[in-house]
Amino acid sequence: MTTIALIVAAGKGERAGGGVPKQYRPLGGLPVLRRAVLAFSRHPRIDAVRVMIAEEHRALYDAAVAGLDLGAPVIGGAERQASVLNGLESLADAAPEIVLIHDAARPLVPAGVIDRVLDALDAAPAALPVLAVADTLKRGEGGLAAGTVSRDGLWRAQTPQGMRFDAVLDAHRRAAAEGVTMTDDAALMEWAGHAVALVAGSEDAMKITTAQDFALADRLLAGALETRV
Ligand code: CTP
Ligand code: MG
Repeated sequence: MTTIALIVAAGKGERAGGGVPKQYRPLGGLPVLRRAVLAFSRHPRIDAVRVMIAEEHRALYDAAVAGLDLGAPVIGGAERQASVLNGLESLADAAPEIVLIHDAARPLVPAGVIDRVLDALDAAPAALPVLAVADTLKRGEGGLAAGTVSRDGLWRAQTPQGMRFDAVLDAHRRAAAEGVTMTDDAALMEWAGHAVALVAGSEDAMKITTAQDFALADRLLAGALETRV
């Protein structure tokens, strides 16, 4: 069985600000993207890693992954969904059984999360790591509380999201043809009628979104909360 990790790194990192896009900035001495790649390339159950990048970041990419055994990057699209589709299309001939689609902006994903997603794919066509919602959820209108939303059955979705390749390529192609957009790949799989299994995520798999998230990621790295490959 062939399992490929697709790492989407073609974003501009606008919310993180700060000149160099977040995926190319250092975290604990290594570029964020390099950490994300290593999480998969060092994992014994991953056969290959493919990265989607923005054309204008080629030099940053080459520097970030120097010395790693990676094939050529795939150029992404204007939205994350388009970047994923480009990555999937680039694998159409190779046709792996499984793809794990991962945000470059989640550099500290533990090996255990990858294992849990892969294990779930034995029984389901798709799987994603999730965390419980701890805070009380409020609806707000015009600066005033306008109701409390039950947390029952609500989860925070992370990556890597694992899918059977044929099913996710078909879902993405259909969505593109119909102009359907969703915020993650698991949502597209649900839209296409596939069961998506939930497995335990990890706070270490946090997404770096804002400049402050770099400080949080540094603390997680120092604490090494879960063992990484
Ligand atoms: N991504 C991508 N192609 C895009 C947009 C996003 O490959 N057109 C990737 C990002 O590089 C990131 C992941 O999808 O690894 C999650 O997206 P996000 O955290 O939103 O990153 P950015 O889009 O880069 O950040 P921002 O939205 O703040 O500009
Ligand atoms: Mg974005």
